Amino acid sequence: MTTALTVPVQAERDYDVVIGRGVRRRLTELLPAGVRVFLLHPPALADAVDTVAATLADAGHQVLRHCTPDGEEAKTALVATECWAELGRASFTRDDVIVGIGGGATTDLAGFIAASWLRGVQVIHVPTTLLGMVDAAVGGKTGINTGEGKNLVGAFHSPLAVLCDLDWLSTLPAADLRAGAAEIVKCGFIADPAILAAFEAGPAAAIDPTGDVLADLVRRAVAVKADVVSTDLREAGRREILNYGHTLAHAIEHHEQFRWRHGDAVSVGLVYAAELAGRAGMLGSAVVARHRDILTSLGLPTTYRSGAWPALREAMGRDKKARGATLRFVVLTDVAAPTRLEDPAEELLQDAYTAISEEPR
Ligand code: GLY
Repeated sequence: MTTALTVPVQAERDYDVVIGRGVRRRLTELLPAGVRVFLLHPPALADAVDTVAATLADAGHQVLRHCTPDGEEAKTALVATECWAELGRASFTRDDVIVGIGGGATTDLAGFIAASWLRGVQVIHVPTTLLGMVDAAVGGKTGINTGEGKNLVGAFHSPLAVLCDLDWLSTLPAADLRAGAAEIVKCGFIADPAILAAFEAGPAAAIDPTGDVLADLVRRAVAVKADVVSTDLREAGRREILNYGHTLAHAIEHHEQFRWRHGDAVSVGLVYAAELAGRAGMLGSAVVARHRDILTSLGLPTTYRSGAWPALREAMGRDKKARGATLRFVVLTDVAAPTRLEDPAEELLQDAYTAISEEPR
C-alpha cells in the first residue's frame, strides 16, 4: 500500500476520507474488535468482496453479505426491506457495522440502511467508482428512490470513515471515469482553480487511473466537498453550491429516463449554468469558454438536443432547488466565486439553452 492522503470532514461526529492505493485493507483497522459486519455490494464486485470478507473473518469479525441489484435498482424500498429482514434475523445490534462497497447507489443504500436500522448504526463507505469517491460517499446524504423520483426517502447519516481505494478505478470503463471527472471539474469551478489547471495541463493524464494526477484530483475534489459539508451538513445554505450545473443536469437525466450517466448530464449542465451567468452579465466570456474547453477536452458532452427545451424547462420547475414557481441556479461570478441566480427571465433561460443546443441530426 502506498502513502494515503486523508481529508477530514466535520459532521455530527468527525470522520476521515482516506484516499490511496490499497486503502480498502484499512477496513480492519477501523472496525472495533469483534463487531459483526453487514457488507453490501453489487454482483460485479462479488469476487473482490470475497477477499475483503475473508480478511474481515481472519480479523475475527462475523460477516453477513448482501448482494444488491446493480445501479439505481439497489435503491428501492424492496431491497431496503430485504436488508432489514436479514439484519433482524441476525439480531444485528447498535455496536455492529454496515459497510457499503460499490458505486454511489450502493453507498447511498448502505448509508440509508445504517441510518434507519435501530435508529442508526455505524457505516463505512468503500466507493469503487470515481463519482462515488468524489461525491456520493462523502457528506452523509443517504437515500433510496420511490416511483415518484430519486432520493425522495433518506436521511443525513455521516459515516465512520470513507475509504477511496484508487485501485478500483483501473477496472472502470473510460466513459465512467470521464463522467466522474465532470464532478471534479465542478469542484474546480466552484472552489479550486488548481483542479482546472491540472485538467488543462493534460486531460488524459488527469483521468489516468494509474497516474498520480488523478489521486491528487480526487483529494482536491474531496477537500472541496469536505469543506462545504463541514460548514453546512444539512444543506441549509452553502451546500447548495455543490449543485452547480445540476439544475439542467437533473432535467436531462429525467428526460433521458436515467439512461445518461449523471456526470455526462452534469457536464452539459455546467456549460448551461456558465452561459446563463455569462448572458446575465455576471460572468466573463473567458470563464464561460473555459467550461466548454475543459469538458470537451475530457470527451464529455457540452450540448443537448434543441427540441428538448420545453420538456427540460418543465422538469427544471420541479427541481428540488426550485422555490415555488421560481427557479434558482447556482452560478459563478468568477472561478471559485459561486452565487445564486434567482428567478431568471424566461428569455435568458432560453437564450442560454440556445447556446448549448445542437440541431437534430
Ligand atoms: N451531491 C451534492 C451533495 O452531496 O450535496
